[in-house]
Amino acid sequence: MVVPGEARLPKNNCQILLFGANGQLGTKLNTLLATKGTVRAIGHAELDLRDLPKLRTLILETNPALIINAAAYTAVDAAESDAENAQLVNAQAPRVMAAAASECNALLVHYSTDYVFDGMAQSPYTEESPVSPLGVYGASKLAGEQAVAASGAAHLILRTAWLYSNRGKNFLNTMLRLATERNELRVVNDQNGSPTYADLVAEASMQMLDGMLLDGKLRTERCGLYHLACQGETTWHGFAQRIIEQAGFGERVRVLPITTNDYPTPAKRPAYSVLSTSKLERVFGIRLPYWEEGLMRCLSERAVQK
Ligand SMILES: NC(=O)c1ccc[n+]([C@@H]2O[C@H](COP(=O)([O-])OP(=O)(O)OC[C@H]3O[C@@H](n4cnc5c(N)ncnc54)[C@H](OP(=O)(O)O)[C@@H]3O)[C@@H](O)[C@H]2O)c1
Repeated sequence: MVVPGEARLPKNNCQILLFGANGQLGTKLNTLLATKGTVRAIGHAELDLRDLPKLRTLILETNPALIINAAAYTAVDAAESDAENAQLVNAQAPRVMAAAASECNALLVHYSTDYVFDGMAQSPYTEESPVSPLGVYGASKLAGEQAVAASGAAHLILRTAWLYSNRGKNFLNTMLRLATERNELRVVNDQNGSPTYADLVAEASMQMLDGMLLDGKLRTERCGLYHLACQGETTWHGFAQRIIEQAGFGERVRVLPITTNDYPTPAKRPAYSVLSTSKLERVFGIRLPYWEEGLMRCLSERAVQK
């Protein structure tokens, strides 16, 4: 087993391997990582992570000092009837990444989810809170976390929540599309969480990487599990309402609250999945803004992109 302290330093100009390079989070990471080293950005087309031997070979051949895994099987409902693939991508592939990271003495940054919790809590979940996923997706992500933690590789496991961005399939993009098609949206009002702009997670990840180094040494005591999400909380209905108002549809589109029972889905979701991020603040001095601020920034960047 490699002692994390022996991990090479992910300092400037190192080899970096990024998985999930075309996802909402991976796309932003890809642009930011370019300032940190030579990035080999791997998308689904280049490597299917279910091909575990190929994954291992690619890592060992690249011999990176830093591996970032932003890839995941994120289709929460589809996972219920596709557990084998969810397990392969979310649990087995991270296990292989971590083992190979250990062999290369690389630092592994791996992302996980608030869906490892069952949602029965009434105050924010900490990194020590008991986990009890309600569905296949959450269980597969938890297995991935556990494999990384047990690997002996130097690692950061970053649990985030309710991710959205201006790219890809997500709640924000769905609401904005529906708002052009309908005058009334019905959105679940009994699940609470913290909507988090993916770009903020990518930026905080860069700050965390900087914070992993001190006097030319990797701060191995900072390895481990962290919650990384925006401050504050709302429901999907509250989030939708704010999106509709901020995007200028407020006059025409009404957002009506419904219950989870009114909108049955294959996967059960936690009723409450707010993450306490005080460990992140205590150790790294990093605190993401309130979710409303994140949304304003995302929408303003969307306007600029168009
Ligand atoms: N989205 C959320 O609300 C949320 C919430 C909490 C935590 N997270 C976690 O945050 C991280 C980033 O999520 P995200 O929202 O950025 O995800 P995303 O947009 O769905 O991106 C995931 C990427 O993984 C790739 N991928 C999936 N299966 C693959 C396979 N078999 N081989 C290779 N690549 C594969 C996808 O490629 P294709 O699209 O081509 O399949 C996609 O580019 C993940 O760990 C996720 O579990 C997400």
